[in-house]
Amino acid sequence: MFSQQPGPIGIFDSGYGGLTVFDKIRESMPDYDYIYLGDNARTPYGPRSFEVVYRFTRQAVIKLFSEGCQLVILACNTASAKALRTIQQRDLPELDPDRRVLGVIRPTVERTDQVSSTKHIGILGTSGTISSQSYSMEIEKMFPHITVTGEACPMWVPLVENNEFDSPGADYFVKKHLDHILSVDPQIDTLVLGCTHYPLLTDKIRQYLPEGITLFAQGEYVAESLKDYLKRHPEMDRKLTRRGECRFMTTESADKFTEAASVFLKDRIEVEQISID
Ligand code: DGL
Repeated sequence: MFSQQPGPIGIFDSGYGGLTVFDKIRESMPDYDYIYLGDNARTPYGPRSFEVVYRFTRQAVIKLFSEGCQLVILACNTASAKALRTIQQRDLPELDPDRRVLGVIRPTVERTDQVSSTKHIGILGTSGTISSQSYSMEIEKMFPHITVTGEACPMWVPLVENNEFDSPGADYFVKKHLDHILSVDPQIDTLVLGCTHYPLLTDKIRQYLPEGITLFAQGEYVAESLKDYLKRHPEMDRKLTRRGECRFMTTESADKFTEAASVFLKDRIEVEQISID
């Protein structure tokens, strides 16, 4: 059904957020080719049900496979939490057992123990990611001595998607959720940005973060973990093309994406508008 020729690495997010992960991956592996797909027409995924996030994510993965990607990274915590397992277990054997889809939660969780001294960690994420309990379950499996508190921050993605991450609205919603999670567990010394949109709010978050608390963004850990994965899986590495090329696709307006992406990537990019449903 799909081409067996070597192809680019696919990177998927519901919108622009995955660009924070893409940026770190490209920085650490600049020779590879990439296709970034943002489902901006249907963002945010955070408040959507399991069934809907799974259906949308599956459509995106199939699109990236049909564009020649042998490996797809779900650069979206919500999709990683709600769709990854079903895609890996149910869809891949049927679609193409040799292709791979990887998420961002596991590589993030693997680092949590090193970062925290108090072993009390807070996860900031979308309602979908927090209610799925994916972070607490993964951390419990890997580091049962760590106490995890999750905080859903449903307004943070809309603030970023609408370029309002440095507005008085952002001040209000950032302070509100930081105050709340730190009152639930005052021993927290590490806050994980468990949504790929949130690095854009870093300056705002730091403004309200008490001293001594580490802010943990996942992009560079996902990039390191991908590099390591390709070392351990030379059969996949051989199926990836390397011309240093990037293509960008969105399900919404290409002009809007180009404009917004310049905030995330600090350069202007060419974007194609596509449909995946
Ligand atoms: N950037 C996403 C995440 O990491 C998705 C946010 C959303 O669409 O709600 O969870």
